[in-house]
Amino acid sequence: MVQKGAEIAPANGKLGILLVGLGAVSTTFVAGIEAIKRGLAKPVGSLTQMGTIRLGKRTENRVPKIQDFVPLADLDDIVFGAWDIFRDNAFDAAMKAGVLEKDLLNQVSEQLSSLKPMSAVFERNYVKRLDGENVKTGKNKMELAEQLIEEISKFKIDNNCDRLVMIWAASTEIFLEPSEIHESLEAFEKAMYDNDERIAPSMIYAYAAIKSGVPFANGAPNLTVDIPALTKLAEETGVPICGKDFKTGQTLMKTILAPGLKSRMLGLDGWYSTNILGNRDGEVLDDPESFRTKEESKLSVLEQILQPEVYPDLYEDFSHVVRINYYPPRGDNKEGWDAIDIFGWLGYKMQIKIDFMCRDSILAAPLVLDLALFLDLAQRAGMRGVQEWLSFYFKSPQTPEKLYPEHDLFIQLKKLKNTLRHLKGEELITHLGLDYYD
Ligand SMILES: NC(=O)c1ccc[n+]([C@@H]2O[C@H](COP(=O)([O-])OP(=O)(O)OC[C@H]3O[C@@H](n4cnc5c(N)ncnc54)[C@H](O)[C@@H]3O)[C@@H](O)[C@H]2O)c1
Repeated sequence: MVQKGAEIAPANGKLGILLVGLGAVSTTFVAGIEAIKRGLAKPVGSLTQMGTIRLGKRTENRVPKIQDFVPLADLDDIVFGAWDIFRDNAFDAAMKAGVLEKDLLNQVSEQLSSLKPMSAVFERNYVKRLDGENVKTGKNKMELAEQLIEEISKFKIDNNCDRLVMIWAASTEIFLEPSEIHESLEAFEKAMYDNDERIAPSMIYAYAAIKSGVPFANGAPNLTVDIPALTKLAEETGVPICGKDFKTGQTLMKTILAPGLKSRMLGLDGWYSTNILGNRDGEVLDDPESFRTKEESKLSVLEQILQPEVYPDLYEDFSHVVRINYYPPRGDNKEGWDAIDIFGWLGYKMQIKIDFMCRDSILAAPLVLDLALFLDLAQRAGMRGVQEWLSFYFKSPQTPEKLYPEHDLFIQLKKLKNTLRHLKGEELITHLGLDYYD
């Protein structure tokens, strides 16, 4: 465990953010950073840029910005790298994604056009709805990993980076169950040489990152780095990792509302969630095997928050259904409906309806920034392995084995801020407050 008041190396020099997948989320993130750096927009939605942290007693009035409290990389010191199966540079990819207005993209076109994706590790078997030409070849999966490791090292030198982080923002892969080849590094590496089909491309990127000493976050629900072989490797080599699946849109709403219902001891009969979206992510999720990966990630949230085994009178056997429908006219502007059937005093029934007209990548981009900056901080503070304090950002937070994940957004935020206080040697905040009355 990292000690209270740990020594944190300064964030000097350049931080390279390596993005796997240069699609809607990644280009919205990169274009956003460039626009913010030029003062064209504000980093809305980013805790590292806009958030504050209370320190000490309420009477002390010490509430610095998080970025003034812990040493984080400066936006001006960030450089980007990416891999994608398509050759489009970030400007063309952003235009195709259609999230940001052309006017804004044109103002940062020079920076975006210079970001050209490296060739990807990709197999169609894992993302059935996609096929691209910018793909690596190699005689086995280990050889592909070695190519990535070489590219990572070259990127660092060419761009004069001090540190790197890698974020998976590529398409959702098919559902894979953990198996014996994911248990130990030895079995995992052998399976890479054997081209075992249980090693997905995302695992090859994660392996290459950890082997290179680069922190890794998984923004999609794929198994990826959530396997003992890679979590142990990360611990042994001092690399922070986290995942899975950015918490945006409907699941964000769920983890805001469900803790509120539970805190008032209101019961739940059912929660029906459906979405329409028309971006490439929606197209990929239209494939039942990719959707299954997403569904598992979305479904676990309510069970964990509501704890039916502890509160059978309120939450036993509630029905939870999640649907995603690919509907091209909406593009990235997803619409998510929730029909929630709750009950109160004496079992009297009530209903809540939510219609969230959201923008998927607008919600995800600030999460990419925060994860990159916090993972880099974690590494400079000597934190290693699974970073549960970053659960705040994920639908399926990765935890050590035998520890259930915490899904309640407010507990997640407290955990994150208390971790920052701990790192800086400040008292943790319990909110007890009785001493104010002595
Ligand atoms: N936007 C959100 O709110 C949100 C929330 C949670 C999770 N996610 C996940 O984030 C990921 C990215 O979402 P998006 O909207 O940007 O999707 P997108 O389809 O626009 O972009 C994904 C990109 O990844 C590329 N790709 C696929 N496999 C690859 C590989 N093996 N190597 C390199 N590139 C690869 C694709 O060509 C595509 O350009 C998806 O998995 C999505 O499910 C997004």
